[in-house]
Amino acid sequence: MLEIKNLSVSVENKNIINNLDLSISKGKIVAVMGPNGSGKSTLSNIIAGKKGYEINNGEILFNRTNILELEPEERAAKGIYLAFQYPVEIPGIANSSFLRTALNSIRKHNGDEDINTREFLNECKELSKKLNLDASFLTRDLNTGFSGGEKKKNEIFHMLMMKPKFCILDEIDSGLDIDALKIIAKGISEYSNKDNSLLIITHYQRLLDYVKPDEVHIFNEGKIVKSGDYSLVKALEEKGYKEFI
Ligand SMILES: Nc1ncnc2c1ncn2[C@@H]1O[C@H](COP(=O)(O)OP(=O)(O)OP(=O)(O)O)[C@@H](O)[C@H]1O
Ligand SMILES: [Mg+2]
Repeated sequence: MLEIKNLSVSVENKNIINNLDLSISKGKIVAVMGPNGSGKSTLSNIIAGKKGYEINNGEILFNRTNILELEPEERAAKGIYLAFQYPVEIPGIANSSFLRTALNSIRKHNGDEDINTREFLNECKELSKKLNLDASFLTRDLNTGFSGGEKKKNEIFHMLMMKPKFCILDEIDSGLDIDALKIIAKGISEYSNKDNSLLIITHYQRLLDYVKPDEVHIFNEGKIVKSGDYSLVKALEEKGYKEFI
């Protein structure tokens, strides 16, 4: 589904991603772990299309189309979704309005009609209940005044409503309490199927105990330095990064 080939990226002349190769097949859950500052969020942002990076080399193919020239909203319409490490507060825009606008813009791009309001609200209510997110979060301004964990829950709420094909979850587990983590992990696991893919960026084993990855990559200085299966997560937890980088 996603193929990153020989990608090198810099910001203000500082190399952040270095000759990175990474392929993620349809139906797979792939975990990326790596020290602070190793370039994980930068990679997420580049896939999603955030501006401000210099692409020095390489390409990113999404279902065989190079997406590097596409705008973020075009990538979203193709089914790419990024759950932010630091979700942004937008005062003045209700959470549900933001979500409905995002959903409708994707539907429009795909030639579909706007979502029926009642259908949308029913789905929102059902899902927020499942994620244990109080219904008041629908009418509150986007992320404004949400606690750290509530913001992360809201990112997954949006993901499950938007049903993307390729989900990038950038430290979705940080800030979640023990019970919330289980609920969110259940939502993610149930969403994962043979037609979509997940790129999970995390520092800890715990989320991956609930959402079992097919592949695990250790990232350092903008490239993959070690790949393996779930056993790599355990080894990392026990030994730390010094064994691998
Ligand atoms: N706009 C920018 N200007 C300068 N440096 C930047 C910019 N964006 C990223 N960097 C640097 O690039 C490096 C990689 O940052 P990134 O946020 O991708 O790390 P990360 O692996 O996600 O770390 P963490 O685990 O702490 O979230 C860091 O050293 C960061 O300071
Ligand atoms: Mg990060």
